[in-house]
Amino acid sequence: MSEDWVETAKAATGRRAADCVEDGMRVGLGTGSTVKHTIIALGERAPDVVCTATSVRSHELATEVGLRVVSPDEITHLDIAIDGADEVSADFYLTKGGGGAHTREKVVATMSDRFIVVVDERKLVDKLGAFGTPVEILPFAPEVTAAWIRDLGASEVAFRQRSSDNGNLLADARFGLIDDPAGLATALSAVPGLVEHGIFSKELVTEVMVAGRGGVSVLPAPHEGAGPQGGA
Ligand code: A5P
Repeated sequence: MSEDWVETAKAATGRRAADCVEDGMRVGLGTGSTVKHTIIALGERAPDVVCTATSVRSHELATEVGLRVVSPDEITHLDIAIDGADEVSADFYLTKGGGGAHTREKVVATMSDRFIVVVDERKLVDKLGAFGTPVEILPFAPEVTAAWIRDLGASEVAFRQRSSDNGNLLADARFGLIDDPAGLATALSAVPGLVEHGIFSKELVTEVMVAGRGGVSVLPAPHEGAGPQGGA
């Protein structure tokens, strides 16, 4: 698969999601190279909306293309949020945070009635884990926190060079393929000093827009026992 194909796919799904935004909506803008296309498409169409953004770079891009961007506290509730993902599992769990924005992204997704995930088909996986699990860690005792994450089964917690927009450390935890993302998410959420992890629950996801070679498919909200690959 050539890089050109991937870029075309990202643009297709990002733009398709922008079509779901209507006048009067409060809109959550994600972060990354796919949702960038959503933001640009919204700027071109200029609907009468108010947005909140999940990162400094998405805030800057949205402002640059003419969208009105406010803090989450100014609108408190969102009609729609659109964001990319690093992995989408067969049962609609997500890995997010490849760009280090997952803490704000989880707040914004949770604020929203509808959460659309935009990905190219390379992101569809059976189980999460091959990408790693991004974590945002308080810089107070990072090695202690990392050791507690290893106690949960991570073979490695690799710190990144770059800090988050929140001024915290970013790292990638390696758990191998994750059989129980809900259980791991609960365990990670209980680690002191771990600000947020990049496992997003299937309950957050309303639909996944997947760009493949044949165009964009919309995979609807997961129901009991169903997922994007039809798995139980
Ligand atoms: C940002 O921290 C991430 O959660 C992104 O949403 C995710 O990495 C997807 O980004 P791309 O669309 O650039 O692959």
